[in-house]
Amino acid sequence: MTSNLQSFYEQLMARAKDLILLHSAEALVHWDMETMMPPRAVSLRSEQLTLLSRISHKMSTDPEIGRLLQAVTADLQYESLGEVEKRNVHLIKKNYEEQTALPEKLVSETAKQQAITVNAWKQAKAAKRFAMLKPDLEKLLDLSRQAAEILMKVKQTRTPYDALIDIYEPKMTAEAIAAIFNPLQQGLKGLLEKIQASPNQPDTEILKRAIPIEVQWKIAKALSQTLGYDTTTREAGGRIDETEHPFTEGYYDDVRITTHYSPEEFASSIFSVLHETGHALYEQCLPQQWKYQPIGTYCSMGFHESQSRFYENIIGRSREFWTNWLPKLKQIAAPTLDNVHLDSFVRAINHVKPSKIRIEADEVTYNLHIIIRFQIEKELFSGKASVNELPELWNQKYAEYLGVEIQNDSEGVMQDTHWPSGLYGYFPTYTLGNIYSGQITAALTRDLPDWHNQVIQDNLNVVRGWLIKNVHSYGNLYDPADLIKKITGENLDAEPYLRYLHEKYSGLYGF
Ligand code: CO
Repeated sequence: MTSNLQSFYEQLMARAKDLILLHSAEALVHWDMETMMPPRAVSLRSEQLTLLSRISHKMSTDPEIGRLLQAVTADLQYESLGEVEKRNVHLIKKNYEEQTALPEKLVSETAKQQAITVNAWKQAKAAKRFAMLKPDLEKLLDLSRQAAEILMKVKQTRTPYDALIDIYEPKMTAEAIAAIFNPLQQGLKGLLEKIQASPNQPDTEILKRAIPIEVQWKIAKALSQTLGYDTTTREAGGRIDETEHPFTEGYYDDVRITTHYSPEEFASSIFSVLHETGHALYEQCLPQQWKYQPIGTYCSMGFHESQSRFYENIIGRSREFWTNWLPKLKQIAAPTLDNVHLDSFVRAINHVKPSKIRIEADEVTYNLHIIIRFQIEKELFSGKASVNELPELWNQKYAEYLGVEIQNDSEGVMQDTHWPSGLYGYFPTYTLGNIYSGQITAALTRDLPDWHNQVIQDNLNVVRGWLIKNVHSYGNLYDPADLIKKITGENLDAEPYLRYLHEKYSGLYGF
């Protein structure tokens, strides 16, 4: 690198580092709002968050970044930069171009309308009346469409909806998602029919046994420790707190998870802890040498979800894992689960039953909830459906795909916070995560055919080490389509995931 190029690059990286630090501070303020904040702080907190986001917008659209980018990319030595440096420049450029393309007025109006719409959603949901949400949802959708039209030009996507998908899953398109979701939907339909026709249905009584919250708290700590997420030692980089909706927030050495506890549903906390720990491990195991650089982050939301789903379902709902862990669980929860057998426990936690609520769905039907949302979003943005038609479209698809009858819009189209929060194009990443997790597991089995035995012997380090080497260590060096190819040698494909489901559930339900 020439000294000029070196200097421009270093200046860009210093600015990137400032933004990363600012975002991690914003995340911490947000974490506090969800976990610790006393009620009276609401308006103070909202002022603090608004200021932080204004500063962040100003810093990321500073014309000096544009000048530095120009200087770096126009330098005659630019082509001699390494893969890592070029990717850093690409990520800074992408962010700068997108941020500067959006008019400040549109950004602030959208933020304001999001807050209003979330509030309207809470009231409409409590009253079970979609009509109360409709006008604000229409306004928000209109603002999101305007942003999508602008981003479409910058990102050079074919449709506005593709531009929104690209925010969460770079370079993914609605067309590519439909091409993978359609066969997945067919496969799931066939699998669900076999499961429902089986006379061999599990007894879920075990899961209704009451376990006090203090005991569940101990279970959460021990479980996350088993997976390698440290919340207890002097070197700990994590902690577990309580919120209604579990989440993970943090950066490298300070990554926190939350869970929820309900005495009559101990399994709910177990699987939310496994899920969030999967997210946390990804953040903590990114390459140390890339800390404070744009590449030192996750690949995409879908990849993030692949890590949480891997630990929640592929490990956390497996017989292998519970062979070792059920005795520990029994000991911590004694005497409540004393007479529980491995077989009935594993069958109970893998109970498949179509339901109305996405966040309560089992591993098999979960993806049908997502496919419904994706199909509706696609129609909304292509103009084929209007906000007015949402409840009817929703209820029809739930009846058709899941065979459930939605009684009111609170348990129907208003169940999730995503659309009122302005998150469009986000839902498909959940199922993409599952699909990636299937492909990743196939690659893991190819490399380490013995990994199941390691899990039985309580050695999660083998699996964790493989994930670090093959997934986490790439940070944000590649777009998701390239990363999945790098890991597995294959393109995005739902087949390994369907095969995994089929093998597992044919064993559990006997078909
Ligand atoms: Co998640």
